[in-house]
Amino acid sequence: MAALLKIQEISKRFPGVQALQNVSFEVEQGSIHAIMGENGAGKSTLMQVLAGVHQPDSGSLEFRGEMVHFSSTAEAQEKGIAIVYQELNLAPNLSIAENILLGIEPNRFGFLHRSKLRDRAIKALNRLGLHFDPDRVVRSLTVAQQQLIEICKSLIRDPRLLILDEPTSSLSETESALLFRVVKELQSRGVTILYISHRLPEVFSLCNTVTVLRDGQHVRTARIQETSDDEVVRLMVGRELLQFHRSRAQVTDVVLEVKGLTRRNQYSDVSFFVRRGEMVAMAGLIGAGRSELALGIFGSPPADRGEILLNGKRVQIRQPNDALAAGVAFVPEDRKLMGLVLNGGVGDNISLAKLRNLAVGPFVNRANENALVDRYISRLRVRTPTSEQRTGLLSGGNQQKVLLAKWLAVEPRLLIVDEPTRGVDIGTKAEIYALFDELVLEGIAILVISSDLPEVLALADRIVVMRQGRVSGELSRAEATEERIIHLAALSRVASVS
Ligand SMILES: Nc1ncnc2c1ncn2[C@@H]1O[C@H](COP(=O)(O)OP(=O)(O)OP(=O)(O)O)[C@@H](O)[C@H]1O
Ligand SMILES: [Mg+2]
Repeated sequence: MAALLKIQEISKRFPGVQALQNVSFEVEQGSIHAIMGENGAGKSTLMQVLAGVHQPDSGSLEFRGEMVHFSSTAEAQEKGIAIVYQELNLAPNLSIAENILLGIEPNRFGFLHRSKLRDRAIKALNRLGLHFDPDRVVRSLTVAQQQLIEICKSLIRDPRLLILDEPTSSLSETESALLFRVVKELQSRGVTILYISHRLPEVFSLCNTVTVLRDGQHVRTARIQETSDDEVVRLMVGRELLQFHRSRAQVTDVVLEVKGLTRRNQYSDVSFFVRRGEMVAMAGLIGAGRSELALGIFGSPPADRGEILLNGKRVQIRQPNDALAAGVAFVPEDRKLMGLVLNGGVGDNISLAKLRNLAVGPFVNRANENALVDRYISRLRVRTPTSEQRTGLLSGGNQQKVLLAKWLAVEPRLLIVDEPTRGVDIGTKAEIYALFDELVLEGIAILVISSDLPEVLALADRIVVMRQGRVSGELSRAEATEERIIHLAALSRVASVS
């Protein structure tokens, strides 16, 4: 089949980083083409070159038989290239309909044509099988729901080439399944799709072709039948993958116990405990109230009712500072809104929460701070030119690592992590698991919230399942299977995304 797109010798340098180096490959018309590679390999940069966000330093692009140069995203859109960015990009205070049709709002005599706007938005939503109220403000949606709105928005202009940069990293299984249907449907209508993902099973079931990038270079493009997941992983990481096994730590006293924790409309009567030397996973569907509960334990905002006990003592956690003082650290799900100062340096972000302990009187001990920062940069393989780099300039997965480093650096006695490996590459994922395992051996209690079932099964000593704001069951490591967790999470009710 003919090539829709020919990428020829594309190079792109950022200060301190050669993000892309002489990358060449072709994308077949009508295919679903996966792009894989470690965090920082250059995937998003390449996609942004195709979408006109970045201009390459050298090299050329041929699209539909024609040489193209995009100096803006508008020019790329004009030619039929649409992109859904890795990081959410919606206007939070506008409605769903306004976001979907941003820039191409229907108007009548120069005024916004409200009813037409709604109609078009509903049509676009229905195409994806979504039934949101188009007047709803985007801010009130979950990350997953926002992701789906982003996709709607990109489809509104009927692109020939649709770029999806890690579209499923924050979607549940049900929502991902919905997205796959949409992607297949688009393919059947002749749309070509470039699909970035860190999830191998997904790539192998959905895509026709896979391209692997490593350190900014093209490694291989192959039809999916001509390769295997082992080969792809080997090409991606270029080193032996860590084999992860949970070790058995000595389980002793209860570190965290919550009793009857309740917050109106979010979670209700939740009780469970986490002991020293154990890792407890909290499973459930998106929207089951797990993140809200974790935030409640962290005091942001606190629960309305119920008790929190740390090492057997009842504590009042009214705000995050109370939690930190009690030795509780929390790695949030949303790194952009809650976690990181994107304009701040990598090192500053890592040492931010820890600073109190590093300070001697009013002075910060710089040498200690630098040692701490370097330790976590290497422990988590954060790919950054220097520790002073602006965090917002790191690749998505590397930002996630900085967020983890920041809270690990606090050395808490209870670490709560919400979706800790979202967007993290397969090699680093195993390393983060090993790190959690080490922490547990060192005596830290870990509560991990994850929608990734293999992750839950790999990590947890015990699994607490939540459904609709309540604990629907608990499973030991020995009892747990994917089916059992799903059963408790959904109780055979079909999950709804609206
Ligand atoms: N605007 C920028 N300024 C400086 N450096 C940048 C910029 N954008 C990307 N980089 C750097 O270029 C390299 C490639 O980043 P890119 O975002 O393309 O990686 P990626 O393959 O998408 O990784 P991930 O899987 O983590 O999303 C990284 O080292 C990143 O820090
Ligand atoms: Mg990326």
